[in-house]
This record gives sequence, C-alpha cells and structure tokens, in this order.
Amino acid sequence: MAGMIELTGLTKRYGEKVAVDRLTFTVRPGIVTGFLGPNGAGKSTTMRMLLGLDNPTAGDVRIDGKRYAELKDPLKYIGALLDAKAMHGGRSAYHHLLCLAQSNGIPRRRVSEVLETVGLTAVAKKRAKGFSLGMGQRLGIAGALLGDPEILMFDEPVNGLDPEGIHWIRNLMKSLAGQGRTVFVSSHLMSEMALTADHLVVIGQGRLLADTSMADFIRENSRSYVRLRSPQQERLRDVLHEAGITAVGRGDGVLEADGATSEQLGELAARHQLVLHELSPQQASLEEAFMQLTAGSVEYHAHTDGGVPQTPGAGWGAGVQQQKKKGV
Ligand SMILES: Nc1ncnc2c1ncn2[C@@H]1O[C@H](COP(=O)(O)OP(=O)(O)OP(=O)(O)O)[C@@H](O)[C@H]1O
Ligand SMILES: [Mg+2]
Repeated sequence: MAGMIELTGLTKRYGEKVAVDRLTFTVRPGIVTGFLGPNGAGKSTTMRMLLGLDNPTAGDVRIDGKRYAELKDPLKYIGALLDAKAMHGGRSAYHHLLCLAQSNGIPRRRVSEVLETVGLTAVAKKRAKGFSLGMGQRLGIAGALLGDPEILMFDEPVNGLDPEGIHWIRNLMKSLAGQGRTVFVSSHLMSEMALTADHLVVIGQGRLLADTSMADFIRENSRSYVRLRSPQQERLRDVLHEAGITAVGRGDGVLEADGATSEQLGELAARHQLVLHELSPQQASLEEAFMQLTAGSVEYHAHTDGGVPQTPGAGWGAGVQQQKKKGV
C-alpha cells in the first residue's frame, strides 16, 4: 500500500533528555491521523526524523519501506509544513515555489495550480516577507502540495490562524485524505483533533500513550452524567442511593449522577416531592480526558526521576518548563 509511514522503536536523545522514546506506530493512507501531545511531547522531533532532518538515536522510521534519504524525488512522496517562517522572505510567493519546483523536477504549471488551491493567486507576485501569518501558512501548504505527494504532514498548521483559515485547513486535510492520501497532522489541542482526525496517536514525554480511532477515543472518554442541584441535597442523595443511582457531591448543592437519564431523575425527584434548581445532562470534555492521559505520563517520570510525586494535571506545566529551558 502506498503512503504508509512506519515508526519502529523510534528514539531521539539530546544529551540526558529523551525527546522521543521508543515510538512504534503506523500512519495509514485515506484518513487524517492526528498526532497529539502537550508542548514538548516530541511531536516536532518525530516529524523532523521522518523527513531525515534529524537522525534517530535508535529505532527507525520508514516511508513505504524506505528511509527518507533513499526516496527518489522525495517531494513527490511526502510534502510537509514544519515551520511556516522557513522561507526566503525576499522572494515572491511564485518564485519561492518555482525554485522548489525546479530543484525537484516538478513542472512549472504546478506552481500556479497550488497557488490557486491555497488561494494565493492574487498575491503570487508579492514578496513573502510582507505576508501575514495566515498567508505564510498557506504558502507553506502550497509548498507541501507542490509535488502532488501521497503523504502530507503538517506540524500545528492551525497555529495563529483566524477562524476562516482554520476552517479552510480542516477541510483541505479532509479532502486530501478523501483522495486516498495519507494526512499526518500534529496539534496540542484535543478539541481541534476531534473535529479533523479519524485516527489519533497521543504522546507525552516522548512516549506513546494512545493509538486509537477517534470514534473509540470519544466513546471511551466522553463520560455522560447528569448535574442536579437541589436545596434538599441530602434527601435527594438518599433517594438516588435507594434507587441504586451513584451520585457524587460537588459542593454548592450540586450532585453528579451516573447511570440514569435526566428524565428518570426528574421523575424520581417529583415522586419524592423534591425541589430541583437544576437538572442538566452533561458530557465530560475530551480535553479533560487528554489532560488525564498526559498527566499520567508526567507522574510516572517524576517518580522515576526524583521521587517527587506530582499532582495530576501537572503535565502541561512540565511541558512549559521544558520550553523555557530550550530558551524560547
Ligand atoms: N535541538 C534540540 N536540542 C535539545 N533539546 C531539544 C531539541 N529539540 C527538541 N528538544 C527537546 O525535546 C523535547 C521535545 O521537543 P519537540 O519540539 O519535539 O516537542 P513538541 O511536541 O513539538 O512540542 P510543541 O507542542 O511545543 O511544539 C522538548 O523537551 C525539547 O526541549
Ligand atoms: Mg512542535
């Protein structure tokens, strides 16, 4: 099958720091695969190794069975948007793409085609230096599409884009996957992935935490419950308990009940003449599920590194500290 990316025990160490830790997973064609992890999780490092821009310390990543360096005309296999600012600012959008095309054996007409696809035709002769962030992203995407590759890889493509731009990129990724291409896209936002990805690979501290279909992830992690608020909380809790319904108090007179619908709970309260100030069905957010998943990996590392237990939810903070160490 064309368009397969296979990682086997892929590892990258920078001195003491293990940025990517024995990652093994496969990215398949015809779907959008979301690559999710908090800041510093190792997403960009993994993507750089995929493109041969960084050498693995151990393990291997292959594109259709080959290393990136072994691909003949790599832009025709895989197109990538890593850093939207990595371009020659003095050149026009058209010339930037033309240079890329000419050095990769891609016909000149593709330049106009991809400019049209990303909506930059009107500013094609303008210097890229003056481009807004969104225009820069579009130009980067045009470069990725230039070789008409089977595989597209985007590192945080929605960063800094306005809602219209985000909507556009989402639709573009879905349509590329719909054409049977492999789309591999990173993000640190679960909510973003839920709207775009069919498959989900989650990493934290360089390690694989989940490799699952988006549908399964949603099914397993979106707990539904009913929020009840009553001035007679104690009585209400007893009534629920007698009916075999688990209810957890959240303070402020709020109870969260599992395993019954809001209809059943409302009727039960009415039968016992209990006053309700609130009765609302709720869905736990996927973002919460993602934070719990990544916080777990941080806890594990904290324990082995220094024996200092960290509170759940510390995963994001740890990532931020690493970013600071990097000096950005
Ligand atoms: N050239 C380098 N030298 C030393 N450490 C590095 C280098 N590149 C990355 N790292 C470290 O490797 C870890 C993973 O970084 P990476 O940029 O891959 O994370 P990321 O998941 O892309 O994060 P973000 O969401 O912030 O983009 C971080 O701790 C980072 O500080
Ligand atoms: Mg990154």
